[in-house]
Amino acid sequence: MQLQLENKVALITGGGSGLGLATAKNFIAEGAKVFIFDFNPNAKATAEEIGAGFYQGDVSKAEDVEAAVAAAVEQYGQLDIAVASAGVGGEGDVVTSTVENWEKTNGIDYSGVFYTNKYAIAQFLEQKTPGVVINLASMFGMVAVSNNIAYSASKGGVVNMTRAAGTMYAKNGVRVNAVAPGVIETPLISEEDLKTYSELHPAGRVGQAQEVADLITYLASDKAAFITGAVIPIDGGYTAV
Ligand SMILES: NC(=O)c1ccc[n+]([C@@H]2O[C@H](COP(=O)([O-])OP(=O)(O)OC[C@H]3O[C@@H](n4cnc5c(N)ncnc54)[C@H](O)[C@@H]3O)[C@@H](O)[C@H]2O)c1
Repeated sequence: MQLQLENKVALITGGGSGLGLATAKNFIAEGAKVFIFDFNPNAKATAEEIGAGFYQGDVSKAEDVEAAVAAAVEQYGQLDIAVASAGVGGEGDVVTSTVENWEKTNGIDYSGVFYTNKYAIAQFLEQKTPGVVINLASMFGMVAVSNNIAYSASKGGVVNMTRAAGTMYAKNGVRVNAVAPGVIETPLISEEDLKTYSELHPAGRVGQAQEVADLITYLASDKAAFITGAVIPIDGGYTAV
């Protein structure tokens, strides 16, 4: 399938690693110009290696996200696609989670996604062009993980945020969708969790970053023109049973 992202400009938060990086490489292979926004300064070298622009900042700070959108537009002249992939794992249950962990995880995994949607969609509307946002939710936004309250709450929030954002400006050609991956082999996931979760997915394995990047690339393309406000599981059947 030719997904044809030529002449499209994409901002990818968390594009320096894992799912964001796999998506950046896919987009570039389909002809898009990619601008990576990441907290980790080492991601600058990664961006240069793959031919992407780069902005270092913290997605939990609204002003950093607004500046990253402006920097992408300054470098490439427009914005057509945003992928909200910056994220952290969180830790602790409803009692053991510290307030600091709750605030940090929700600041990045929840508010950071809101800021990315807010400033990217405002840019699409200002340009008066269609635009697409893809949010990284999780299977743990569809079902909970009891020992990780902040992650479960933030990903659940991303699921409904996607529905609200994906329908508000649909008539202007703005589409917002989320993917809800199962456990995927990236630097975010410990060796121990990779082993444990392999057996818990009905498919009998964890997923690969390329598989998620391919779904995101499809959603970013015009082939997915009638899909908005959708949350699509890619979890080897985890949430189906
Ligand atoms: N890997 C999985 O199993 C899995 C499953 C479901 C959902 N997800 C979600 O997918 C997204 C990407 O995860 P991944 O597996 O690629 O992780 P990863 O750790 O490989 O990549 C995350 C990237 O986000 C960046 N980042 C972290 N905090 C940031 C901040 N405050 N500001 C800007 N950038 C920041 C990191 O530097 C890193 O480059 C996350 O939202 C994660 O919750 C991952």
